[in-house]
Order: sequence, then C-alpha cells, then structure tokens
Amino acid sequence: NVSKEQSPAVSNIVRKKLGGFVGFANLPNQVHRKSVRKGFSFTCMVVGESGLGKSTLVNTLFETSLYQPKTLPELGSELSSTVGIENISADIEENGVRLKLTVVDTPGFGDFINNDSSWDPIVTSIESRFDQYLEQENRVNRAKLNDNRVNACIYFIQPTGHSLRQVDIEFMRRLHTKVNLIPVIAKSDTLSEEEVDSFKRRILADIEYHKIEIFKAPAYEMEDDETIQENSEIESKIPFAIVGSTQTIQTGDGRSVRGRSYPWGVVEVDNEEHCDFTKLRQMMIRTHMEELKENTGILYENYRSEKMLAMGVQQDATVFKEVNPTAKAVEEKTLHDAKLSKMEAEMKLVFQQKVQEKEAKLRQSEEELYARHREMKESLEKQRGELDDKRRRLESGRPLTPERGGGGAQSTQKKSRGFLRS
Ligand code: GTP
Repeated sequence: NVSKEQSPAVSNIVRKKLGGFVGFANLPNQVHRKSVRKGFSFTCMVVGESGLGKSTLVNTLFETSLYQPKTLPELGSELSSTVGIENISADIEENGVRLKLTVVDTPGFGDFINNDSSWDPIVTSIESRFDQYLEQENRVNRAKLNDNRVNACIYFIQPTGHSLRQVDIEFMRRLHTKVNLIPVIAKSDTLSEEEVDSFKRRILADIEYHKIEIFKAPAYEMEDDETIQENSEIESKIPFAIVGSTQTIQTGDGRSVRGRSYPWGVVEVDNEEHCDFTKLRQMMIRTHMEELKENTGILYENYRSEKMLAMGVQQDATVFKEVNPTAKAVEEKTLHDAKLSKMEAEMKLVFQQKVQEKEAKLRQSEEELYARHREMKESLEKQRGELDDKRRRLESGRPLTPERGGGGAQSTQKKSRGFLRS
C-alpha cells in the first residue's frame, strides 16, 4: 500500500529483542579482519626549512630509519632554486598489521632569500593527487583506486620564540583547505618551558586571526569520558613542541631512553614532561590516523565539488545533476556571440584609429607640399620680376645698376679675374 509507505527519514525505528544470537555483532570483527588483510596506507607530507629535523622526526615517529639524512651539497656547487617534491615509501608491519607509509618531502621550502610562491609546487602536488583520484573515480572500471592523497601535513615552525613568520602564514593559508595541517614547533629543546608556552599562545593567536583551520581531533557525542579527556589533552598541546632523536642514551638514573644528551642533562623524546612528541604520535598514529584519512576524504569532496562546479555541473542537496544541456548550449552561444561582438567592436576601433592616423599624416604632407609649392612660386615670380626688369633696361639702353645687375661688365671682369687667379 503506497499511501502507508513512509520515507526512510520519517520511518519509526522500533527496538526489538532478539530471541538468540544472530551473528551481526560480529560485523566489527569482519571489518577488522578485512582491513588487516587488505593492509592500510598513509601518506604524510613534511614541510619546513632544511635542518629543522624533518627526517629525524619521521624516523622517530615510526621507529625506523625510513628517511636517510640528506648529503649536504658541495661548497660552491649550484643549489636548486625551486622547491622539490620527493616521495619515500615503505611497507612497515606491527603485530601483523601492514601499513604502506609514504612520506612526501618538500626539499627547498623556505630556504631561499625570497620565499614568495615557494608553496606553489606543494599546492600543485596536493591538487594533482586529488585530480589523479578524481580521474580514477570517473573511469568505467574503478575496481581498485590508487590513493596517493596526502592525509596529513606536518608543518615545521622555526623555534624562534617570537611568532609565525609571513612565509608560515602564507603557506598555511593556502594549504588549510586542501590538507590536514599539523603545525609543530621544531627542535623545541632549544626553548625554555616559558618560551614554549608563550610561543604557542602567539602561534595560536596568529592562526585564529588568519582563520587557518588546523587539524583537531573531532568531538563525537557518543564518545566515552576517557576518550573525550584524551582528545582534549591532545588539543591542549597544539602546536606540538617536539624533539626528535633516534639515539638511545643512558639517563643519570640508569634508564635507556630515546633522547638528546646535553651537558646539563638529557631531553627525553618519549617523556611528556620534556616535549609533546608522544601526544603528536598518539594523535597521528595511535588514535586519529583513520580520522585523518576520513577528513582527507572531506577535503577531497570539497575540492571535487568546486572543480565540478567550475566544469558546469551543479550539486543539489543529495545528488549531482547535469545542468540542462539546451540551456547550457544557449548560454554558451550567448557567451560566444558576446565575445565575437566584443572582438568586432575592438577591431572596428583599431581600424578607425589607423584611418585617422593615416588621414592626419596625409593632411600634414599635403600642407607641406602646398607650402613648398607656394615658396617655389614666390621665388620664381621674384626671379621673373628681376629678369623683366633687366630686359626692360637693356631694351631702353640704360646701363644696369651694379647692385641690381650684379655690377655689369665690370663685375663680370672682376669675376673672371678672380676665376683666372684661382
Ligand atoms: P633536510 O634533510 O636538510 O631537509 O633537514 P631535516 O629537516 O630533515 O633535518 P634533520 O632531521 O636532518 O636534522 C638536522 C639536524 O638537526 C641534525 O643534526 C639532527 O640531529 C638535529 N635535530 C633533529 N631534531 C632535533 C631536535 O628536536 N632538537 C635538536 N636540538 N636538534 C635536532
């Protein structure tokens, strides 16, 4: 009966008691087994100036020498003037769970005198990974999607103790809508406890002022008190002040710890009283890796819908629908016609300008010709007047005046003498 049928949104859910064990309580285990069989993947990008401890932190996080230290360029050798993108992949396993880890390094970022646009190759790399995924989704056969999207970007802040630099702000402003940003204070063992606290406050104020969204553990209503407490502790440590080291050293009280040894003591990487490394690892790997991946999906969806809109596909509340093709064709034709008439108008204007220039030039040369003609006419008339005068004097037998006739015979004589002398 159609009239009695309710839409899923308004249907009443009636709680029923089961008579025995049916088996769907096993669903989480099924999902677990399938995920373990398939393995997991995670792509993490590290961005920060050279020497801030990026490779050390990645190796410390995953307790493996995944990332080899870079060799310094020879003195005097030509340095690269662009930011590069390098992928380092490794399959790691822990208690039978496999993880395909990819670290995306960005050598060169922030290393130049002028760091304007040094974020461009990074933005391009993140977007092209989204594009690759989108292209695979649009294929007829999408049985196995190769996911290279960046799940997290650890941004290394120089331990200056002041506030964020312009390059930090510009980078985060451009990237926060495309990737899960995790800002960290690099080499925090170079700052005192108070310096770290005030530095964190200033960084957070800058982040808020510039409306930069950084990754925070989402708060779900159904979460238990312990998880809520854990999440708020993690959040209170952002931006994480970190210390990286893969070296094991002996403390004064005989413990073997990962840390950095100083004349005044040992900074322990895994000691929460010394730095926030454990909180970063907890968030990134132990509790929120899946959350980071899910959020990457949301960022990708935003990118995808923006791209689709730009291509002329509109999205309503639930589904994507094509814009009416006839209306689209009419719109395109109107746009094309408008473009053509604009071009025509521009060409007319250029043509008119050229004609006006030519006319002005012709008028000028005409005037010049007239002026020359007038000059020549005047001089010819003057000459004619003089000759007439001469003729009249000769006919009347009057001698020619020296000044007017050029000195007559005498002057002719003078001239010939002068000519002979020379
Ligand atoms: P590039 O490979 O050139 O990009 O440098 P990077 O950012 O990967 O730095 P790397 O990890 O190679 O560390 C550079 C130097 O800093 C090394 O001598 C490390 O031992 C040291 N270092 C790394 N982490 C820390 C830290 O947390 N504190 C201190 N004080 N030094 C660190």
